[in-house]
Amino acid sequence: MTTTLITGANKGLGYETARRLIAAGHTVYIGSRDPERGRRAAEQLGARAVQLDVTDDTSVAAAVKTIEADGGLDVLVNNAGVEGRGANNDVAGAADVTVDMMRQVFETNVFGTVRVTHAFLPLLQRSAAPVVVNLSSGLASLTRVTTAGTPTYAYPGVAYPASKTAVNMITVQYAKAFPNMRINAVEPGYTKTDLNGNTGIQTVEQGAEIIVRMAQVGPDGPTGGYFDAEGALPW
Ligand SMILES: NC(=O)c1ccc[n+]([C@@H]2O[C@H](COP(=O)([O-])OP(=O)(O)OC[C@H]3O[C@@H](n4cnc5c(N)ncnc54)[C@H](OP(=O)(O)O)[C@@H]3O)[C@@H](O)[C@H]2O)c1
Repeated sequence: MTTTLITGANKGLGYETARRLIAAGHTVYIGSRDPERGRRAAEQLGARAVQLDVTDDTSVAAAVKTIEADGGLDVLVNNAGVEGRGANNDVAGAADVTVDMMRQVFETNVFGTVRVTHAFLPLLQRSAAPVVVNLSSGLASLTRVTTAGTPTYAYPGVAYPASKTAVNMITVQYAKAFPNMRINAVEPGYTKTDLNGNTGIQTVEQGAEIIVRMAQVGPDGPTGGYFDAEGALPW
């Protein structure tokens, strides 16, 4: 039996990933910062709910205790994320971005990923086949962001791409440190969710494809990589 925790799984890509992994036979914990939203999502999917705010040490420690008491963890999907868009769904470019905006996005996407991974490491190390999937973005790719003429190049935001480039680096360094684990970063593609004011061009079914695949990677699969559904991406 494979036990999987997906952070921020009460909606969007995390919810769809939960649905697919349950269908594949995983026991899935829906991590949700709001207990009621998490409970509802878990009930709809036949999952377990665990209150988990990735920015809060106490919440994460309690989630570790709950999952440990139930038997441990094999797969961690660090999915919770924010893009930090403004009131009109606008993205703050270099002229407007502030330290507070950067901090808010890093708090969830970067420090949240480290907080949750660090807290669950002891449980993952007890698994026979531990797996971590970190939600990155195509906007994390320095190669793409510097290739003129692409949609990635045209994206003006600072905080979100910087946070996801940090997630890529974290992925690489953890993968090297824990060679017994499969730890990869994934880019779901531009997907219609609340994150981007539902402006994405893909469905959550399409977006979840690479997340689901990397959550099911076997001990001989890749680690320390950065992938979308088509294959490896340039850093
Ligand atoms: N959509 C895209 O085009 C796209 C592209 C590339 C990468 N991604 C990445 O995919 C991941 C999922 O995003 P999505 O598109 O599915 O967005 P979404 O529908 O907005 O879902 C984001 C999830 O993260 C949760 N969350 C936010 N802050 C949290 C916190 N502090 N603690 C716990 N949960 C928190 C949200 O919970 P609440 O409901 O409580 O807000 C929600 O469940 C993110 O990491 C995102 O950066 C998305």
